[in-house]
Formats: sequence, C-alpha cells, structure tokens
Amino acid sequence: MTARIIDGNALSAKLRGELAAKAAELTAKGTQPCLAVILVGGDPASAVYVRNKVAGCEKAGIRSLKFEYAQDTAPADVLGKIAELNADPSVHGILVQLPLPKHFDEKAVLEAISVEKDVDGFHAENVGRLSQGQEAFIPCTPNGVMEMLKSIETPLRGAEAVVIGRSNIVGKPMAMLLTAAGATVTVCHSGTRDLNFHTRRADILVAAIGKPKFVTGDMVRPGAVVIDVGINRLPDGKLCGDVDFESAKDVAGAITPVPGGVGPMTITMLLANTVESASRAARKA
Ligand code: GUN
Repeated sequence: MTARIIDGNALSAKLRGELAAKAAELTAKGTQPCLAVILVGGDPASAVYVRNKVAGCEKAGIRSLKFEYAQDTAPADVLGKIAELNADPSVHGILVQLPLPKHFDEKAVLEAISVEKDVDGFHAENVGRLSQGQEAFIPCTPNGVMEMLKSIETPLRGAEAVVIGRSNIVGKPMAMLLTAAGATVTVCHSGTRDLNFHTRRADILVAAIGKPKFVTGDMVRPGAVVIDVGINRLPDGKLCGDVDFESAKDVAGAITPVPGGVGPMTITMLLANTVESASRAARKA
C-alpha cells in the first residue's frame, strides 16, 4: 500500500485564497489586516521563515512590518518596540521569531505581547485559554495540522493519537487540540521508555522531534495518518522531515511530505490568526 499524500501546498493555496478575500473585505471597510514581525540576530533558518511569512502576507493583501535587530541588541530595545506595536491600533498581530539570543528572557518577551495581538498563540494567557477550551489564538503549526487532518476527514473522536515531542510551540498545544477533538493522546519524548510500543498503536502519529528521518516505517501502524512537523537540513543541503518518508509511505494510510506538508500550513494559520485579529478589531471599532 502506498499512502495518500496530504498536500500542504494545495490546502494552503485554497485557504489563502479565502483569507485574501476576507482581508480585501476588511480593507474595503477601512481595516487592512497588519502583522508586525520582529527578528533578532542572524540565524539563517529564522531569516528564511520570516521572509516566507512576510511574502505570505503580501500575497494575501495583509500589510506587514518587519523589524530586524542585531544579535547583541539590548532586550529593552525589543520590549520598547513591542510596547509601541501594542499601542498602535493599525497593527493586529505581533510575532517575535524564535529562538531569541541567549541573553533574552524569552518568556518575558512573549508575555510582553498584548494577548489580543498574540497571533502566534504563545502568550501564557492564550495557552491557558486554549487548555480550558476558551476562545484563544491557537499556535500556528498544530492548528495547521488540525486543518490537514480535517481535510482528509480523519476520524478524531476515540482515535489513538501519539505526539512525539513536548515543545511549547508544537507538542503541547498539539496534544491539547487532539484531546479537545476527542482523541486519546499520548505524548512521547526523549524520556519515553519504549517509543515503538506507543507509535505502533497510533491511528494518528505526529512527529515533532527535530531529528532527521527519526520515525521509520517499522514504527508506523499500517494505515495510520502520519504527520511530519520536522524541517531538517541534510549535509547535501536538501530538506527532510522527522519521518523517513520512503519507508513510512509504504505503511501509512496518509502522510505529509517535507517540504510541501506542514510548513506552508504554519504560515497559512498565521495569516488566518492575523485576519481574525483584524476582524475582531474592526468589530470593536
Ligand atoms: N520558531 C519556530 N517556529 C516558530 C513559530 O511558529 N513562531 C515563532 N514566532 N517562532 C518560531
């Protein structure tokens, strides 16, 4: 059996078309959605992500502002910019690209962003709201995964879901979303004793580990939906995921590729959160 490929580019194109229409409607009524992106330091991967986010905004008719700071910037300068953007009613989303340089207190920076403009969904209040099932900005990568599962009508209620990775950005919110959708969720991590025991039981397997080709076909339950969140660069310069696509595709029922899987969906959900934030601001105005 060869797995069905869940095409993140195609799904993104469809959703971004709908978002562009909403953005145009808001703009016509006097509220053009606007995302401010802050990048600190010269990490090449972060620079690429930020460039793709800004380009995604432009194509969808969302205004974007980009603020770049040197690696040795004082945290107070970035916090000052965040305060300025919080107070600017024409800005609807604020995103600080992670990771930040070591001398930054990441938590303090994320908490400085106004909850209403936290389109990454990383502020502790949004995380708490999500965990309680209250309206919240949902972190973009796990939200994109949920859209991908929905697009192929994956049954979630009662499904066995296994998430490998427990990061604040992906693993933890992913587990919350799957739980809220009725799945029975197991979160595996570096301390998990028998990883294969868990992964082989999964109807839905989400890999967010950060290790190239870590999940091999023998770890996948036949027919499972395999979601690969990893983006790793191999020594030859090529991108690959956390899943060994070649061996997993012969076992899985459906699988996301890398590139062209979860990656574009992350940016699509960021655009969706920005449009939603602008829409809330317009309703309040
Ligand atoms: N670094 C890796 N993923 C993300 C993300 O989704 N948002 C931000 N701000 N930084 C990241």
